[in-house]
Amino acid sequence: MTDFFSVVGKQRACRSFTDEPVTDTLVEQLLEAATHAPSAENTQPWVFVVVRDPETRARIGGITAAAWAGVGSEFSRPRLAAGLFADVERGATGGVSEAPVLVVVAADTTNCVEAALAASIFPAIQNLLLAANAAGLGSALTTLPTFAGDLSAILDLPGHIRPIAVVPIGHPAGPLGPPRRVPVAEKTHRERFGDRW
Ligand SMILES: Cc1cc2nc3c(=O)[nH]c(=O)nc-3n(C[C@H](O)[C@H](O)[C@H](O)COP(=O)(O)O)c2cc1C
Repeated sequence: MTDFFSVVGKQRACRSFTDEPVTDTLVEQLLEAATHAPSAENTQPWVFVVVRDPETRARIGGITAAAWAGVGSEFSRPRLAAGLFADVERGATGGVSEAPVLVVVAADTTNCVEAALAASIFPAIQNLLLAANAAGLGSALTTLPTFAGDLSAILDLPGHIRPIAVVPIGHPAGPLGPPRRVPVAEKTHRERFGDRW
């Protein structure tokens, strides 16, 4: 395991995986980290569905590709840099669903106020991404599969469990390179807006 700052400093979305397996023990360790996230009123509304079955992964891959072909691609093309667009497209058209493990992260809508529901799920997802990275695995936060097609039907999710994201986990097929980020000084103000850091 590596130290926190080196883990967070190389966090990237991974959208292409080898078929090297990831054990249940390791998946559970990552989920343990996810559940240490904060949530409104400590409601812990997260629900995880760990998908390994190739047929189910292919079905999730199918609805992801359909969402991409439907509106995702057209919406994203003018918004994303060419390299990121190609990367997201690769993920949406098979790269993500080929990961040996897909963790579908859902929200229990019955135990958390609606206004705080998504905000009580994404910190857990971030913990999951960082934990995977610390364990030497690749992962990504993807929401495309939740937009179109029927993720709930594929997974038999009851009506009160809302899918929020699909996180592929596996060994990266290649190096991810450094993250591209705007420097802190360009995003930070001192005391009041306008007084640069
Ligand atoms: C709310 C949210 C939704 C996202 N949905 C997708 C998605 O559906 N597919 C995908 O490939 N990446 C998705 N991403 C990942 C972003 O594209 C990625 O984090 C961003 O481009 C930064 O890239 P990096 O993590 O490689 O540095 C999503 C990220 C967030 C925060």
